[in-house]
Amino acid sequence: MNLIVAGSTGFVATEIIRQALSHPTVSSVVALGRREAAVPENVGPSAAKLKSVICNDFEHYSESVKNELAGADACIWTIAVTPGQLSKMPWEEAVKICRGYAIAGFETITQLPRPGVSKPFRFVYISGANTVQDPAQKPWVMGDYCLMRGEVEKRIFELAKESEGKVEASVAKPGMIDAQGRTGLLMGAVKTVMRTLIGLPKVNVEEISATLLDQAVNGLEKEVLLNEDLVRIGQRVLKSH
Ligand SMILES: NC(=O)c1ccc[n+]([C@@H]2O[C@H](COP(=O)([O-])OP(=O)(O)OC[C@H]3O[C@@H](n4cnc5c(N)ncnc54)[C@H](OP(=O)(O)O)[C@@H]3O)[C@@H](O)[C@H]2O)c1
Repeated sequence: MNLIVAGSTGFVATEIIRQALSHPTVSSVVALGRREAAVPENVGPSAAKLKSVICNDFEHYSESVKNELAGADACIWTIAVTPGQLSKMPWEEAVKICRGYAIAGFETITQLPRPGVSKPFRFVYISGANTVQDPAQKPWVMGDYCLMRGEVEKRIFELAKESEGKVEASVAKPGMIDAQGRTGLLMGAVKTVMRTLIGLPKVNVEEISATLLDQAVNGLEKEVLLNEDLVRIGQRVLKSH
């Protein structure tokens, strides 16, 4: 199967790409981003499966980018502004990246030609544990952000439904995504306190990546993958290697 990983230079996407390259069922990985994705270390000849595709406008895809994306069977969408980066840009810019890019990406990528393939296209979107689709449930921490990300989830499900079986969508809702050695001891302790205060669960980057890859390749177990699902499926997949 042919996989697109959108936001290919990011923290989670880098691990998804590393795992995808050694996955026997994945024959090609298109790394879609605004910059070239690095080839992971120690993947040997599997590196040949990777193709970086640079996109300059995530709201209006050029014909050349569309040509590179055509023929894919699934997309894992990781492009977003994470809460830690929100202060670096106006709110409207963050909404454009999180909502506008994801919806335009879904609409563009899922409509590209797939000659001779009748199976539904799988679109896997990473959101967050505290996002909400209902304004009445807006949380007290990062309320506008959580609601905006929830609106994207809702729209993705609506679009998948409107496709009448041509597209299947799944939304992953991880808590804090962790990786060994990612944060120093002090920052790690601060993050743990913050996470506990707002009741945020944790998943390892290898686990979430293994889960999302498994769902894209083998089929979607659930429409909404909670943090506990991401840990459970990820651990099962990683153990089977
Ligand atoms: N990390 C966590 O603990 C965590 C927890 C819960 C949910 N999530 C969600 O998981 C997903 C991936 O998170 P992550 O930690 O991997 O994030 P990340 O490392 O910040 O990666 C985000 C990706 O989006 C791209 N991007 C950002 N702004 C862009 C723009 N204006 N135009 C084009 N591309 C842009 C980045 O490109 P550049 O590399 O060029 O900047 C990068 O490839 C996000 O939806 C995030 O909200 C993350």
